[in-house]
Amino acid sequence: MTLLRFFKRYVVPLWHWYLAGLVFLFLTNWLAVEIPLRMAAGVDALGNDPEAVRTAAFTIGLMGLAVIAVRSLSRVLFFTPGRLVEFRLKNDIFGQLTKLQPSFYSKMKAGDIVSRVSNDMTFVRALVGFGGLQVFNVTLALAMTGRKMFQLNPKLTILTLLPIVIGLAFMQAGVFAMHRLTRLSQTQLSSLSDRILSLLQGVQTIQDFTAEAPFLRRFEEENLEFMGTNIRLAWIRSTILPMLGLAGSTCIYVLLIVGGPMAQRGELSVGQLVAFVTFIAQLLWPLMSLGWLVSVFQRGYTSLQRIDEVLYAVPERPEGETPESLASAPPSLHLKDLSFTYPGEDTPALQGITATLHSGQTIGIYGRTGSGKSTLLRVLTRTWNPPAGTIFVGETDILDLDLDAWRGNTAVAPQVPFLFSDSIAANVAMGPIDPARVDQATIKASLAEDLKALPEGLDTVVGERGIMLSGGQRQRTALARALYRPANLIVLDDVLSAVDQETEQRLIDTFAAIGKDGQQPTMLLVSHRMSALARTDHVLVLDEGKLVDQGTHSELLTRDGPYREAWASQHEDQAPAVQAEPEAVQ
Ligand SMILES: Nc1ncnc2c1ncn2[C@@H]1O[C@H](COP(=O)(O)OP(=O)(O)O)[C@@H](O)[C@H]1O
Ligand SMILES: [Mg+2]
Repeated sequence: MTLLRFFKRYVVPLWHWYLAGLVFLFLTNWLAVEIPLRMAAGVDALGNDPEAVRTAAFTIGLMGLAVIAVRSLSRVLFFTPGRLVEFRLKNDIFGQLTKLQPSFYSKMKAGDIVSRVSNDMTFVRALVGFGGLQVFNVTLALAMTGRKMFQLNPKLTILTLLPIVIGLAFMQAGVFAMHRLTRLSQTQLSSLSDRILSLLQGVQTIQDFTAEAPFLRRFEEENLEFMGTNIRLAWIRSTILPMLGLAGSTCIYVLLIVGGPMAQRGELSVGQLVAFVTFIAQLLWPLMSLGWLVSVFQRGYTSLQRIDEVLYAVPERPEGETPESLASAPPSLHLKDLSFTYPGEDTPALQGITATLHSGQTIGIYGRTGSGKSTLLRVLTRTWNPPAGTIFVGETDILDLDLDAWRGNTAVAPQVPFLFSDSIAANVAMGPIDPARVDQATIKASLAEDLKALPEGLDTVVGERGIMLSGGQRQRTALARALYRPANLIVLDDVLSAVDQETEQRLIDTFAAIGKDGQQPTMLLVSHRMSALARTDHVLVLDEGKLVDQGTHSELLTRDGPYREAWASQHEDQAPAVQAEPEAVQ
């Protein structure tokens, strides 16, 4: 199944390469038979027909030159499709990686994926390049050289090939052991790669906590195991090659012991005996490579399966077509008994939330750390898919919307923004850069001041994950990114803490006014700041994944609960007023 699908998609389209390669491979093998035959003729003519010897020598020389060209061409023609398959496979995997969702990435580690794309790819390339070449080569060599030998002298052929068969059996055992060890070394390398990756991401933290030693020790342990596996591999590999030589010498030995007397008895000519030596030498490698071939196929197949686990992983993105009416208007969102549990977790992150968020309103979300605010935003932007029938956009289940269209209409500034190692302008635009709009977005996100202090302003490259910038600058860059494109739904996850209160007020107003076609976008605003929440139309109060209260800012202040407590603690000095106000309202 795996192989069939792979061959149909990647190998079959390259059939003309293989066909051309086959033609040259055939020529190579034809020459491999003809040259020894000329040698036989030349040797037998020695001393009695100088003319024939000269002709034989001349043809052998010419054919020898032809072998160089024909053999090289046959190899190039077989190895090129190997590279082409690798090229296409890598592009397809990258495309697939752009589509896969967190549900996939939470299961497969980054190092593992990288190792599949790089390491396993080599084995697949070997399968379609070297593997393809050898399959045809062995078949042709046996069919042409083997057949010719058998025609010349069946008995001698069988006797000389015997040591090769025995050698092959030994070699096969070695190859199996190698196969097992190679697989082990692959997994060990995957794990090492992952350790290196996480070191690169966390090196600052490791240094801050002087945790270098334990990290190094763990790495050294795994690295030692990896080395052990590879040394064992090297041992097996080094014993296999001399064995190949031994099998070859044994063949020659048999040839002299058995073939010599035969030649003396006149059962075959001396020239034919010489031709046999060459035939054996030529068959030795293709036959011995049968063992390698088995391993190339096994490793290629295993690697293909590992690659398939990425390439054919189904991106979890149920979707349908977005109704016309939804595409252009700011959405109204209806949460119906929404619960959500992260895969592998026991406690739900969201539990039974029912609420309506009206089109064009600014909705505040308040709650302690870990209460589910970010999770709520993630299921609304469909970073994670909510269960069916729990979130409706207008009348339509969010899972039935065209996903790209839904996201295209949404601007998100996440709590922990990600910046690419690129210029600020590129990070804001995330695609073709429109300088005027980038300027506007940075001004609105109050990033303009920071830019003046940076060496190259908007063109400053921010380093890996934006390491050159401060946390606040990173968040403001992410804000500018969200402001750069017009959207009907704006989602801000606690990003306003990166700006002062005055800017915060201005930002909320800016965001509320940037909708498409002059319409006021629907906006979701996670914040701890009462001053920000006070400017919203409606506030949801979350606690331990549940919606414990909702209403306008002033309504919430009239009720006992986490919201009023938070307001009170942020306005310590006005505490008495808090007490008084609700009573006055009631
Ligand atoms: N990717 C994740 N996988 C598993 N659990 C998660 C993940 N993200 C958040 N959680 C858990 O879900 C709960 C809600 O988290 P979150 O939505 O980030 O809260 P908040 O944004 O309000 O601080 C927490 O208990 C947190 O540990
Ligand atoms: Mg959060």
